[in-house]
This record gives sequence, C-alpha cells and structure tokens, in this order.
Amino acid sequence: MSETPTELELQPSVQPSSQPELELGLQPPSQSDLQPKPRWRNLQRLLLVLLGFSSCAAMLGLIYYLHHRLHPEDQPAAVSPCVSAACRSASARISSSTDPFAQPCEYFTSSCGLDRRAELSGGRMRGQGIPGHPQNLKDRSERRGRDGEDRRQTEDRTLDRKTLLLQHLREVLETKDGSSGLAVEKTRRFYSSCLDTRAIESAGEEPFLSLIQKLGGWAVSGQWNRTDFNSTLSSMMRDFATFPFFNLYVGKDPAEVSRGSSRRYIQIDQPDLLIPIKWNSRTQKSEAKTETLRPFLASCQRYLALLGAPPSTSMIHVGVFISLSSELAVAASPLQHRLQEGQLHQRMTIRELQAPAIDWLRCLQAAFHPLSLGEEDLVLLHNLPYILQMSRIIKKWQNKHELSGSGPLHTYMVLNLLHTLMPAMDSRFSGTAKNFSLALGDTEGEVPRWRRCVLETERGFDSVLTHLLRERTEHRQAKEMIQHVFSSFKSKLNQLQWTDQKVLQLLMKKVRSLTPRLWTSEESSEAELDLLFSEVTVGSDSFFSNYIQLLSLWQKRRNKLLTENREAADILSVTPSLLGDELLFPLGMFVPPLFHHTYPRAMNYGATGFLIAKDILHLLLNDISSHSGSVSAAADCLWNLYLSATEAASRRASLSAAQQQELWLQFSALQVSLQAYQQSLQQRPGDSSLSGRAHTHLFLTAFSQVNCDVDPYREFMPLGPSFFITVVCSRTNQCPSTPRCSIKPQQNPPHTC
Ligand SMILES: *[C@@H]1O[C@H](CO)[C@@H](O)[C@H](O)[C@H]1NC(C)=O
Ligand SMILES: *[C@@H]1O[C@H](CO)[C@@H](O)[C@H](O)[C@H]1NC(C)=O
Ligand SMILES: *[C@@H]1O[C@H](CO)[C@@H](O)[C@H](O)[C@H]1NC(C)=O
Repeated sequence: MSETPTELELQPSVQPSSQPELELGLQPPSQSDLQPKPRWRNLQRLLLVLLGFSSCAAMLGLIYYLHHRLHPEDQPAAVSPCVSAACRSASARISSSTDPFAQPCEYFTSSCGLDRRAELSGGRMRGQGIPGHPQNLKDRSERRGRDGEDRRQTEDRTLDRKTLLLQHLREVLETKDGSSGLAVEKTRRFYSSCLDTRAIESAGEEPFLSLIQKLGGWAVSGQWNRTDFNSTLSSMMRDFATFPFFNLYVGKDPAEVSRGSSRRYIQIDQPDLLIPIKWNSRTQKSEAKTETLRPFLASCQRYLALLGAPPSTSMIHVGVFISLSSELAVAASPLQHRLQEGQLHQRMTIRELQAPAIDWLRCLQAAFHPLSLGEEDLVLLHNLPYILQMSRIIKKWQNKHELSGSGPLHTYMVLNLLHTLMPAMDSRFSGTAKNFSLALGDTEGEVPRWRRCVLETERGFDSVLTHLLRERTEHRQAKEMIQHVFSSFKSKLNQLQWTDQKVLQLLMKKVRSLTPRLWTSEESSEAELDLLFSEVTVGSDSFFSNYIQLLSLWQKRRNKLLTENREAADILSVTPSLLGDELLFPLGMFVPPLFHHTYPRAMNYGATGFLIAKDILHLLLNDISSHSGSVSAAADCLWNLYLSATEAASRRASLSAAQQQELWLQFSALQVSLQAYQQSLQQRPGDSSLSGRAHTHLFLTAFSQVNCDVDPYREFMPLGPSFFITVVCSRTNQCPSTPRCSIKPQQNPPHTC
C-alpha cells in the first residue's frame, strides 16, 4: 500500500490550528512545501525595494489571504469554541480523562483488554440461531449489554456503545418536555412505573392472584373452575405473550430468502421450558439436569408459598409440575441436533398439524388476533417430533389427573405465566429467581434497574422511542458523515495491493453496488403514534397492569411482523448491517457522547467516523488479509514502530494473521475517518473547537476516547489503538508541539504503514 501515506498522511493543506493567526500571517509557511514560495519571495523583495515597510505589510496580508484561500479550513474566524450544552459535557469528559498526548509510549502498551469471556451456557434451549426468534434477539442484546457493563467496572477504558445508547434513551425518557403527545407521555409513564420499586413492593403478589382469578382460579391457592384447556392456552398466548407448550414467533424461510423472497411465516417451535435440561448424546434425548432439580424444586415451592399455597398440598403440585415438565423435556432437542435431522423449517398447513390435543386453528387465531387465519395457511415447524409427543403427553395428563380437580396442565400454564410476569413481580419473586440462577452457576452481575426498564420500555414502545430518538438526531450531519466515510473507504480499497485481481473485482463490484444510508423507520407523526397507542392505558402507579399492557403490545408487534414485509429498523442496534444492496446505519450510532450535531466535526469524525469506518471494514473486508499483501506489510510496520517506541520489555513473537488484520483494520479505519473529515472540511470549510483543541488535534482526542470499543474483534488487537496517535503525529504538525510519545524520524519508514 505504497500510495497510502501520500494520500492519507496529513497534507500541508491542513495547517496547525494551534498556531495563533498572527503567527501564520507573519511567518510565511516555512514548513509547508508550497510551490509558489520562491516567486512570492522575489516579488516581496521587489515590493520592499519599491514600496517600503507599509507595502511589505500589505504583501504579508496578501500571502495570508492566499494561504487561507488554499486552506479554507484554517480561517481563523471558523475556529470559535463550541459552547452548546453537548459540547460543555464533552469538554468536561475530555478534561477528566487522560490526555493521550501527554503520555509516555509505555502508556499505549496496555491494550483494551484481551479477556475472552466464556460463552454463556444456559440450561434452557432457546430458539437461538433461528432467525427472527424474539427471545434470541433479546437475549443476545442483553447478554452483550451486561457483558459491557461488567467490563466497564474493571476497565473504564473500554467503550460499550450499547450502554451509551441505553443511557441516552434513559435521558430521553427521564427528560420531561412540555409539548409531548399522549403516546410519548404513556411511554414515559410506563418507564417511570417500572422504576417505582416501592409501589411494586407494596402491591406484592396481589395483582398476580387477581389475574389468576380472572382466568378461572387455581387449585393451588384456592378453587379452580375447570376452565377449558384450549381457551386458557389461547388466552395465554394472545393476552400474555406466554407460550407454555410450544413457542410461536414470526420469521422468514431461509430457503426462500436465498431466492430473494422476504415473505414471513408463523413459526412453531419447542417451548422455552422452565426446568433446566441437558442433552444426552448417548440416548439422543434431553433430560432434566439432576444436579439442578433440588434448587429448581426449592424455587417452585417458594413461588407457591409466596402465592399463598398451603404447605400441606404445595409439594404435590410442585411434584406434578416437575414431572410434567420433565416429560415434555424428553422430546425437546438442541438446535444442532434438529439441524442434522432436517427438522428445522418444515412447512405444512395448519390443517396438517397432527397434534390433536391442541386446537391449532383456534390457538393460532387467538395468538394472531385480529388477523384472519385459515386451515390452509402455511406454518413452519422446527421440531415436529416434539409437537407430536407434546400432544400425547397433554392427552395423557388430562385423562390421568384432570378428574382429581388439581389441574396439572392448568398449574403448568399458571407457572409459565408467572415466569412471563416475573419482571413485574416484587423482590421476593425476583430474588428467588436470582437465587435459582445462582444455583445454576450464573455469575452475571446485577443489571441496574434503569437499564432493565429502558429495555422493557423498548419492547413495547419502540416506535415512540424511535420517534424521540429521531427528533433528537440531526440527520443531515449523520448522512453527510456516512457518505464521506464511505467514499473515503472506497479510495482506501483502491490503494491496496491485491494478490488476486478476481477477488478485488468481485469486491469492488459489491462495494459499488452498495448504497449506504441512515437506517430509520418510516416517520410516524405524534398524532399517528397517539392513535397507535390510543387503546393502551398506562397508569402511573401499577407497573403490573402496565406490564400486562406491554404484553399485548408484543402481540401487536408480532402481528405487524407477519403482515408487513418491510424490515423495521432496530432502535437498539449500534452497528451497521447489510440488507440487500443497502448498507444501513442505525440511528443509535449517532447519539451523544459519541456524536452530536453541535459538536465540532472533528469530534464527530474522530469518534463516530472512526467507528463507522471500522464497522464498514469489518463488514466488507472480513477476510482481506488472505487477499492483500498490503495488510501484513502495514501491520508489521506498525508493530515494529510500536515495539521500538515502547522498547517493549517482552518482545512478543510475530503477530498472527488475525492480529495483523485487526491492527491494519483499525489503523485503516482511523485513516479513513481522518480523510473523510478532511473531505468534509473541503466541502464545507470551518469547524469549531473544544477544550482549546481543534481540527486534527481534537479529532485524535475524540478518537482516543473511543478506541477501546467493545466488539467481537477486540481480542485480536495486539496493542492499545491510542498508539496510532503517535504514528499520525509523526507525520503531521497538527499535534501539540511536544507529544510525550513520539517516533523518531528514522524509526518511521515512510511508505509501509
Ligand atoms: C367459578 O364458578 C362459579 C360459578 O359459576 C362462580 O361463581 C365463581 O366466581 C367462579 N370462580 C372463578 C375463580 O372464576
Ligand atoms: C383442544 O381442542 C381440540 C379440538 O377441539 C380437542 O380435540 C382437544 O381435546 C382439546 N384439548 C384439551 C386438552 O382439552
Ligand atoms: C437466597 O438464598 C439465600 C441463601 O441460601 C437465602 O438466605 C435468601 O433468603 C434467598 N433469597 C430469596 C429471595 O429467596
């Protein structure tokens, strides 16, 4: 990549912003290699002779003028400090964090933390890996979030974009502005009722018990009116987003997606059983984990006691519940097994579902009410053997126990409902759940209440949150940045040397076909939102009843997914994604403190611009190191600079290919965003300053604050990316005059990295 430095190295076109304007005017550009200089000097001498000192001053003014016409970004008037509220907080953050320019080289030795966290292995088999599985999405995002939070405690240099977005949404939800519509008000009220733990505590188990009464009672804590199985099950799915015997969700058929169709189907899957199970590869069956049965039993007993079950009978109900759960577990199997057996995405009509214990049409009609479904509608199955077995088990248990009046099937459904409503129950319930997950070996820390509440709010009021977020994001700047970074990325591609021209052509074809854009959902006006949420009643005191409203919003969301073909923007997403020919950047990437439209652009490009460039590179060039020699050459060069600058005591062995790629990629991302910033300045001259820093200096400061981004690739990064600041500073006079860590000229082979 021999051309890279000439292109991306700071050209003389960007002048030291720290130099006072007067100096610039009185000292003709001594360092810069402006061609016309000698001519000007001669002219100047001539003029001196002819016109004397006053004319000389005029001439200097002319030089000054020409100079700034060539380098408009340095117009002194443009570098005025930014004083917006967002800038004031950003400035405070900068002054409270370490100044990378004042650090010795050893400071950059600590990388961003290479700890690889063990993959979380829950006992429950979820629909993980099946596209569109709601649980799947939620769990993944949550897990990532918690991950980040834990890390932040041990290492505050890492940056978790997801947490920053959630914090921003929290602020949005907690800031009252007078003119909001009803939907916005309901959303805020839902959020604040979620935070009101005192009210939740004082309500206790009472709201749950009265809900059970409405469902026909319960033999465990009173009298059961022998309600009809099918109608209770329908109600669980329709009103309470609870799927005790089988899971229902909406998604595409991968076989059709590869043919370009985006039609969505109802998908029927094994349920998320409450009982912890494991796969026995010898018998090829799932079974309850014996070692967890005791704590599981204890937690069930505790729930029943909290719900007022007399101790004398509670053990019988718990025993029956566990026994029914284990029987269902036998037919459940992990995704991998079902994939091998070809059991995923089996198509059939509702009529063809051979599981007579369930009134399928009625249940599906209820779950997707008010959409109309008929016997001939297609569904996709992910575990037919389970469905058949489940039907047999239900028949058996109905005949065996229902006569006794204890209603084991009903109890099973009620405990599943309790599980769904757990987030709305008081701390005795959540504490029991926590104790049980500790017994399962779950070591995750406590998720702060506000975070859980923002996430819950999003699950029902996502369109309102999108509206609020959109209102607070100035789109023009974000769009402009996406365009500049993408075009700078393309020019970066052209500078690489490729071992295989075919690969390059394929890649270039793909890249050229892509349209990058800001990813937002269709604009909904406040009035439309108010209408959409007109039937939702959100009280300010009862989180339990608000939560039930939330569950019915999930149902609406499921329906919408089934009827609309449009891909809805995910408001909680913080990384770009490819969808057909579009490269979509979610709004969540453009929130403070990473981005604000009042920030100096140097701030925005140094932080968000770098992240965008890094994401694009990861998304599109994931296996580039095998196709371009430039990658390893540049990485080795950077690595050697690093080793000699830090005189690293432990000279580590050479880098792995993955490390080389990540090193190259992050440095390239920095170059790409810096170039994009310069493009932006050429197009629209003038930028403001922050904390007395401007242009490249500020750009690099902003970069230093985000470079320890939490992403799946960070474990391959062999050094602290802040070291790049040293490399960039060695090639420009844009940095503070004496950065403590600097590379000696002879250490810097000009055309390799
Ligand atoms: C059970 O049925 C009786 C008689 O129809 C009725 O009075 C009672 O309220 C019902 N109980 C519940 C919990 O639905
Ligand atoms: C549910 O409804 C179907 C169809 O009416 C019926 O065959 C089945 O027995 C019912 N299931 C139970 C457990 O009552
Ligand atoms: C959790 O377990 C601890 C220790 O076994 C016990 O003291 C505590 O009461 C339990 N908490 C709940 C809410 O069950």
